[in-house]
Amino acid sequence: MQNTLKDVSVLMPEGVRAELYDRLDSTNTKARMLAQAGEKGPLWVIAKHQTMGRGRLGRTWVSDAGGNLYASLLFAPKVAARDLSALSFITALAVGDALVAHGVAAEDIACKWPNDVLIGDKKCSGILIESLLGAEGHLDAVVVGVGVNLVAFPAETRFPATSVQDEIGHTPSVEDFLASLAHAFVDQWQHWENFGFGAVAKRWLPLAWNMNKRCKVDMADGFVEGIFVRLGDDGGMVIKLDDGTEKSLYAGDVYPIDV
Ligand code: BTN
Repeated sequence: MQNTLKDVSVLMPEGVRAELYDRLDSTNTKARMLAQAGEKGPLWVIAKHQTMGRGRLGRTWVSDAGGNLYASLLFAPKVAARDLSALSFITALAVGDALVAHGVAAEDIACKWPNDVLIGDKKCSGILIESLLGAEGHLDAVVVGVGVNLVAFPAETRFPATSVQDEIGHTPSVEDFLASLAHAFVDQWQHWENFGFGAVAKRWLPLAWNMNKRCKVDMADGFVEGIFVRLGDDGGMVIKLDDGTEKSLYAGDVYPIDV
């Protein structure tokens, strides 16, 4: 294993391991391969560069900049696959906590449904969650991929982007940020285990971007327009349509109505 990132084992939460690579196609793909080979984690797979970084909805996550975080957590939670809807909110909250720990003002952070993290209305982090299902739909493992623009962001993006460096003028090392994220994730996950989805939603909702505002959601097969009125108990985005009815959405990209 080539490794130009420094060893972070001592910084990780108890029982959580990390494997650091200089270059991978995708940390999510690597974590999936490890899971298929029997690895159960909890293990953070992290790369300095990705050659085929993957985003949500089949998109590419531009990953050539050294200094950004490209990391995937592999673990095997003892929960049913249907209960995993909390995971995107748990992860987004953990990213927010790590950003605050490294100097971003809490009031500048927003969570954009389903799992983007914004600083000052611009995307700083994206999350790609992949489940590995075994026999009869049983959840074997889950991979939580997290990209954080610490130092750089692509020039041409559908939604405005930013980096920690651009927002606060300095940035933590990848290793220090990973350590903060790993600890924050354990805390947010335990909060969910102890208190359930309602408690996670209670933390996420005050940070929700565009809540009670008109937006359009790109559903891949067309746009849906309406007002983002609440989060469903199942993590769905509930929007009020112009005819007054409510619709729950489970995937898509949200844009303000003037975009
Ligand atoms: C998105 O907003 O579309 C999600 C982006 C997720 C990117 C991260 S970077 C680390 C991990 N490995 C990948 O290939 N993707 C995720």
